[in-house]
Amino acid sequence: MGRAFVYVILGGGVAAGYAAQEFVKRGVSHGELCIISGEPVAPYERPALSKGFLLPEDPARLPSFHCCVGSNEERLTPKWYKEHGIELILGTRVKSVDMRRKTLLTVTGETISYKILIVATGARALKLEEFGVTGSDAENVCYLRDLADATRLVSVMQSCMDGNAVVIGGGYIGMECAASLVINKINVTMVFPEAHCMGRLFSPRIASYYEEFYKSKGVKFIKGTVLTSFDLNSDGKVTAVSLRDGSKLPADMVVIGIGIRANTSLFEGQLTLEKGGIKVNGKMQSSNASVYAVGDVAAFPVKMFAETRRLEHVDSARKTARHAVAAIMEPEKAGEFDYLPFFYSRVFTLSWQFYGDNAGEVIHFGDFSGKTFGAYWINKGHLVGSFLEGGTKEQYEAIAKATRLKPAIEDLVELERQGLGFALTA
Ligand code: FDA
Ligand code: NAD
Repeated sequence: MGRAFVYVILGGGVAAGYAAQEFVKRGVSHGELCIISGEPVAPYERPALSKGFLLPEDPARLPSFHCCVGSNEERLTPKWYKEHGIELILGTRVKSVDMRRKTLLTVTGETISYKILIVATGARALKLEEFGVTGSDAENVCYLRDLADATRLVSVMQSCMDGNAVVIGGGYIGMECAASLVINKINVTMVFPEAHCMGRLFSPRIASYYEEFYKSKGVKFIKGTVLTSFDLNSDGKVTAVSLRDGSKLPADMVVIGIGIRANTSLFEGQLTLEKGGIKVNGKMQSSNASVYAVGDVAAFPVKMFAETRRLEHVDSARKTARHAVAAIMEPEKAGEFDYLPFFYSRVFTLSWQFYGDNAGEVIHFGDFSGKTFGAYWINKGHLVGSFLEGGTKEQYEAIAKATRLKPAIEDLVELERQGLGFALTA
């Protein structure tokens, strides 16, 4: 026994929410669309989990951050899905996909059939065990990917006020969680293997600004090393962590953000994979014409760099989802996806945006001892990436526009002299 739908979205995260909104805008009929999610709640804006959700006062809680409030648009509550005849199958994981029969099998034993499938399964947090360290299932060790993780993190945090937290990983989760822990009056030490934080994006000079800012808030940094083992007490709680450099840090809690893996396992051997994700064309269509992929799980052609990329950011989840639905509902009208990569973060009073690609030579500009500064990346004679901290809406729009144009840059010294002015007049 099972149910049949025209469109099935597998996964109930950011991309699923934005896809549902686009289906409704384009006139999906009642009963045609269903979303199947392993999570027990309707799609929500995941970025809230490391920011507003962790605040000690007036924290963000559902239903306040359901999609699509992150784009200042309508909030899609469970009632909205009902009113639009969209079936939400929540708290239900899909365990296998039969592409020949066009069916999904859920863990509850139900078979759900589709005509068109949109894969929006996102990603999972990498576990320390995958790097040979055991013990990360202890009750005061936290990962952060979904609402259940965030709820657990809040309760662990509340049980160790004024205590010591060790944050493993110097990427997005590490930086955002460290800031939230400090705001909750917890002493934070960050540990990561690179020479500076945000190694995948920041230049050493940009990283140094944030590290100094964090230090001014009391955060300690231990760089160039990794965690090798946990000390556990008789209750199974971590009391200290040992590092490869031989040091040992007391810990009342540990937060781990060491990267993610896209959730592709249901499709291995069935779809073409690339860059750790499901390879799609400019219409978000996979190697099987009835299956589309969007969000963190999709490896799609980034036209402006003539390269297939898998991006792990909310803007690309929203836009790939909308584009897939446009391509499904109006195939003759929807062109090839043409995306300018966009990443951002907000911590403490700081806020930055990045557009494009961080390849090539970096030219810094602005006041690194003040509030507004940035950088351009110049690759093969063209400006390909722009970063700005502390900008205004107009300034962010200007760096986005300038990056999109990929202007030729002949004189790097002149670009450095013009700084933000270059983007404002491009
Ligand atoms: P997402 O992970 O949102 O959703 C995937 C869904 O699929 C989940 O509901 C999951 O349960 C479900 N699923 C997976 N396998 C399944 C199965 N077999 N059966 C049923 N359901 C299944 N980005 C950014 O640009 N700025 C930011 O500030 C932040 N902040 C941020 C904070 C935190 C804490 C995280 C974890 C991530 C961010 N991000 C971010 C990244 C951003 O949230 C991310 O890129 C999007 O959520 C990706 O959206 P997707 O819909 O692709 O996956
Ligand atoms: P990340 O890739 O940003 O950073 C991973 C960090 O872990 C790096 O510093 C890396 O060197 C370190 N690391 C790797 N292996 C390690 C090991 N064995 N021991 C110690 N450190 C190790 O990943 P993340 O911070 O875990 O974030 C997860 C996902 O969530 C990413 O997709 C990210 O884009 C997304 N996210 C984005 C934002 C944002 O865009 N503002 C915010 C939060 C999360």
